[in-house]
Parts: sequence; C-alpha cells; structure tokens
Amino acid sequence: MNILILAASAQKASINKKLAGAIGQMIASEHKIDTPDFKAFSLPMYDGDIEQESGVPELAQALAARIQQADAVIICTPEYNGSIPGGLKNTLDWLSRLRPHPLVAKPVLLTGASPGALGSIRGLWHTRVPFEALGALVYPEMFGLSSAYDALDEQNGFKDARKSEQVNKLVNSFLAFAAALTKS
Ligand SMILES: Cc1cc2nc3c(=O)[nH]c(=O)nc-3n(C[C@H](O)[C@H](O)[C@H](O)COP(=O)(O)O)c2cc1C
Repeated sequence: MNILILAASAQKASINKKLAGAIGQMIASEHKIDTPDFKAFSLPMYDGDIEQESGVPELAQALAARIQQADAVIICTPEYNGSIPGGLKNTLDWLSRLRPHPLVAKPVLLTGASPGALGSIRGLWHTRVPFEALGALVYPEMFGLSSAYDALDEQNGFKDARKSEQVNKLVNSFLAFAAALTKS
C-alpha cells in the first residue's frame, strides 16, 4: 500500500519527525512510504477573503494530492497546550475547502510524541475531532510516545523493545484495517 506519514511539526529537531521515521522504518520493506515535510506546506491562516480572491492555496492542493494518492495516513503530531497544534488544524481547515476533500473515507492512525508523561494523548483526543468531522476513518486506538526526548536513538529506533513491539503491533493492525477497506 501507499502510506503517507505526516509529522505535524515544522522544527528540524522534531521528536514527531523522529517518531514518523521510526514508524516508517518498521513498514518500509512492505509498503511505499511518503513523508511530506510539514514545513514545506506552511499555509497562511485560513482566510475567506484569500479563498474568494485566489482559491485554496496551491500548497494545500499539493498536499491534498499527496493524501489522495495514499491508501492510509499516519499522523505524528505534537500536543500544544493539551490540544491539536494550530498549524495542523489550519492545514485541515484549508484541506476541508477542497471538493472533493482528500480525507473522506481515508484510514487515519493518530500518534504523537511529547516529552511529558502523557505522551500527547490529550492532544490526540482533540486531533480526532476535525479528522472525524472531515469523514476520515480514524482508527480507534491511538498512540502517544511519552518521555519522547529519550525514547528514540540516533537511528530513530525505540530504545525500549517493549515500546517498539507495542507500536509495531498497533501500526500493523491499523494497516490490516486500511487494507480491508481498500479491498472493499
Ligand atoms: C506552544 C507549545 C505548547 C506546548 N504544549 C504542550 C502540552 O500541552 N503538552 C506537552 O506534552 N508538551 C507541550 N509542549 C512541548 C512539546 O511537546 C515539545 O515542544 C515537542 O518537542 C513538540 O514536538 P516536536 O518536537 O515534534 O516539534 C508545547 C510546546 C509548545 C511550543
């Protein structure tokens, strides 16, 4: 399958980029992986005047095309103030203005990494909301990587083998769910 893994962080040393790398490594031998650089898709704040004057920005359309090509999407997102980061929400708001918009019936797995003990899980519950509202098929289980600054090594491998096993199991059950949907 074609799997798009989006780390929703702009910063170079992002732990969510590292998590995306770790997940990508787990499945790269069996799937085609696309990892768009979130910063390369920086969009202006949603503004109805921009939309009326010049339509949905080309960058949003380009990201939508990448999502459309994917059989399944894995999100690795930071948690900001207990919720979805504004940049990701803004991107979803622009994507939602496209017809058809690219997330309808798209299988989506939500993951996140944070240095805290809760591993972004509060933010993931908020992140679910716009994805669900857009008609994405959000996998019931989510994964938050806690103490993330120390959890991954230089090669983006999990230092803790049990954590690696947990993520591997989750990602593969999500991909089985996505494959079943792709066939139906
Ligand atoms: C505006 C802002 C709000 C944040 N809020 C939270 C939070 O609510 N919970 C948390 O665990 N970490 C929070 N953090 C810390 C981030 O988890 C941390 O900066 C992390 O490295 C961001 O992910 P990234 O490295 O992938 O960019 C916040 C950081 C910023 C900049």
